[in-house]
Amino acid sequence: MGEFFLTEILKKKPKTFLEVGVFHGVTARNICELLNEIHKNDFKYIGLDLFEENDENKDEIIPNTKFSNPLKTIYFRYIKRLNPYSKEAVQDLLSKFKNNIYLIKGNSNKVLREMDMSKIEYVFLDGGHDYNTVMNDLNNCKEVIKNNGTVLCDDYDLGYAPGVKKAIDEFIEHNKFKCEIICNDRFAKIEL
Ligand SMILES: C[S@@+](CC[C@H](N)C(=O)[O-])C[C@H]1O[C@@H](n2cnc3c(N)ncnc32)[C@H](O)[C@@H]1O
Repeated sequence: MGEFFLTEILKKKPKTFLEVGVFHGVTARNICELLNEIHKNDFKYIGLDLFEENDENKDEIIPNTKFSNPLKTIYFRYIKRLNPYSKEAVQDLLSKFKNNIYLIKGNSNKVLREMDMSKIEYVFLDGGHDYNTVMNDLNNCKEVIKNNGTVLCDDYDLGYAPGVKKAIDEFIEHNKFKCEIICNDRFAKIEL
């Protein structure tokens, strides 16, 4: 899936990228490597995540933050001394791109509403998988689509998170945007 995903981004060569739902930053690093290859130092990656499990976000699906590989646990706990699911750890992982990245710790339902979306050319939507959150996120990304940008949504047809598909289908129907379901129903690519 990694290659498929990066090929999709390569088609649009965005200079300003927003990832909603960064988690440990693995995809973020691949995105930054690709954007750096295309634009050299002239790109911006914005990553937004809760970076925390608490009462306020208990309804969101947060992946298991424990590693199955014990070596990774040891690496983060004793060598890095960082919680891998934290802004600090992702900042560390992306340190090579420190002048190009901007990480935000917060809830997309609130943060996106207050963010200037006018310069963002590509959004990878992979944050909250709850119907209301996906719908809010999509509505807050409308400007990106209207400006000829792309919103690529992950987990379109995920059995345990049916709210993602429901929100995307309703959003498309209501706004009459173009939507391509790609990679075996994994992604929904929304454009004008
Ligand atoms: C599937 S993971 C993201 C994986 C990441 N995109 C990758 O490819 O490596 C989903 C992430 O979304 C975050 N998340 C869930 N609800 C959120 C919300 N309302 N606002 C911001 N982030 C949220 C979780 O903390 C989690 O890290």
